[in-house]
Amino acid sequence: MENLDWSALGFSYNKTDFNVRYAFTDGKWSEMEITSDEYVKIHMSAYCLHYGIELFEGLKAFRGVDGKVRLFRVEENAKRLISSAERLCLPVPTVEMIVDACIEVVKRNERFIPPYGTGASFYLRPVMFGTTAGLGVKPSQDALLVVYGSPVGAYFKEGIKPISVVIDRDQDRAAPRGTGDVKVGGNYAASLLSGERAHKMGYSNVIYLDAAEHKYIEECGAANFFGIKEGKYITPKSPSVLPSITNKSLRQLAADMGLTIEERHIPVEELPTFEECGACGTAAVISPIGKIFDLQTEEKYDYGTEVGATCMKLYTQLQDIQYGRAEDKYGWCTIVL
Ligand SMILES: Cc1ncc(COP(=O)(O)O)c(C=O)c1O
Repeated sequence: MENLDWSALGFSYNKTDFNVRYAFTDGKWSEMEITSDEYVKIHMSAYCLHYGIELFEGLKAFRGVDGKVRLFRVEENAKRLISSAERLCLPVPTVEMIVDACIEVVKRNERFIPPYGTGASFYLRPVMFGTTAGLGVKPSQDALLVVYGSPVGAYFKEGIKPISVVIDRDQDRAAPRGTGDVKVGGNYAASLLSGERAHKMGYSNVIYLDAAEHKYIEECGAANFFGIKEGKYITPKSPSVLPSITNKSLRQLAADMGLTIEERHIPVEELPTFEECGACGTAAVISPIGKIFDLQTEEKYDYGTEVGATCMKLYTQLQDIQYGRAEDKYGWCTIVL
């Protein structure tokens, strides 16, 4: 195993031994190529550079309590990658190609998979982009799909703790019928300025509202939003929200715990009625939300400094499955090593 200070790792790129690639040229996909080269050579006029014809995914592999390495819900990420590729008129890989690539990257970089108990994990980043050289705005005929990984540190170094976020109406992340429901780079480019503004003000993240009316909660940074009240797990239903795989998993666990699941509009006025709320995604599983400050109305919402009981239970149950401490009754994990 690599001699890294696993507990000091953050969320940043650490070089590993191998990445894998598939190229789509002349109307067909290549075989999987396994390489140590961290660079890709593309034409300066490649469509991805000009028109943002780019998409990506993010998922994790965990070394469990039993020493086994589990990849969490990789087929779901593969399906979401395919929906992003379709939306950008890119060549579409198969679920099998993506799953095989992720497994190969985990296997080939075993020495970078953090030991159990460090809170660190192995993050996989599939990324795909249009490589055809051209000038006019049109779909790319050719593409490169790369899957690489990096060990990343525990999200909460001192244990799970509530975050403070802002509501910002000055900038929207994604438009109705735009690309908010797929994982394409442009969405993240659009979110940077509001994110930076929030960070400068000392907040961890931005809650985006629906772009059409600024009435309903959409997402919280690169994570889905949920609220808990009266035995219900409530999460926004919107065509411009990315379908989070963590949220999907939490909905299942919440239902199993006896909570009622509601996927619907969440008006901003409903915020004070939540007993707990949180942001959920691969990075942190759950970031409980302690405070929300509305930049424009100056309204404040306070959920306290302690992690709510439901958030804690959901967080623990999901991590128990990821680390092999609890039965994986839905078959979410692929044991790779
Ligand atoms: C905009 C956005 N929403 C939600 C999520 C959470 O999705 P997942 O749980 O699949 O990581 C992510 C991260 O992938 C994201 O980028």
